[in-house]
Amino acid sequence: MNDRKLNKKWLNKERFPRTSRYDLEWILANEMGPNALWLLEDLTSKMSLDSGMKVLDMGCGRALTSVFLARECGVKVWANDLWVSADDNWTRVVEAGSGEQVCPIQAEARNLPYAAGFFDAVVSIDSYQYFGTDDLYLGYITRFLRNGGLLGLVMPAMKQEFTQPPEHLAKVRESGTAFWDPSECWCLHTLEWWKRHLERSGLVDIELASYVEDGWKLWRDWELIRDGGGFTGFPSDAETLEEDGGRYIGFVMLVLKKRPRDPSSFDHSIKIRL
Ligand SMILES: C[S@@+](CC[C@H](N)C(=O)[O-])C[C@H]1O[C@@H](n2cnc3c(N)ncnc32)[C@H](O)[C@@H]1O
Repeated sequence: MNDRKLNKKWLNKERFPRTSRYDLEWILANEMGPNALWLLEDLTSKMSLDSGMKVLDMGCGRALTSVFLARECGVKVWANDLWVSADDNWTRVVEAGSGEQVCPIQAEARNLPYAAGFFDAVVSIDSYQYFGTDDLYLGYITRFLRNGGLLGLVMPAMKQEFTQPPEHLAKVRESGTAFWDPSECWCLHTLEWWKRHLERSGLVDIELASYVEDGWKLWRDWELIRDGGGFTGFPSDAETLEEDGGRYIGFVMLVLKKRPRDPSSFDHSIKIRL
């Protein structure tokens, strides 16, 4: 971050009173997706998480969302990530005062070290698209949920499927980068795509499936906050989001409830393909 002054009020949005209480610099220094806390606050206002529940925060990045879940919902969190080490996340979690409630684990999403039926809920913000497009992944991840447990997902999405990305997403910008990075973006899908992908498994009931209201605006506003603070960790997507105006880019939110099933019937998990 450079020395341009951050205006803490930028975080204040009436829609997200809980996130407004967090330190903007802390979020900017540790975020890995476009404000994960807004997305999580939206999700947790619709997904019931009771105090004391055991929650897997899948693809937690630098564990901002895990701290939020512990503080705001009173749940116990297993903060699971691949790229960020457990050491790194543990330091941050302790500094945030959540050491009693958050347990960081570094593990690949397809090779998890948990017991079948252990979790009451799995939450994944800005991450599920990296592994969850695999046809067999839902069967694997729900193995770790108790029957009736919830899976809450929020991730960047497209409003239309296409075979070639639209020009305004693919063009190279002044930063020398394009919004549409083919090595990362083909996992972005529409709400319809996700519903079909998840529903046909017969493993879950869909409790909620929608685009996040004004998702592209939230993303743009977050990019403007980062730009205003002089944060240079990732190239800004603000202009592309403005140009797109929500035609293609948004976020999907899904809450799924696990149907009853015998965990021993899923021992042939996709882990064997690693
Ligand atoms: C865009 S970041 C989002 C992190 C965090 N949820 C946030 O919004 O700040 C995506 C995260 O997904 C995790 N991830 C990607 N592929 C993974 C995999 N195969 N197993 C576990 N985690 C994975 C990465 O380690 C990364 O931290």
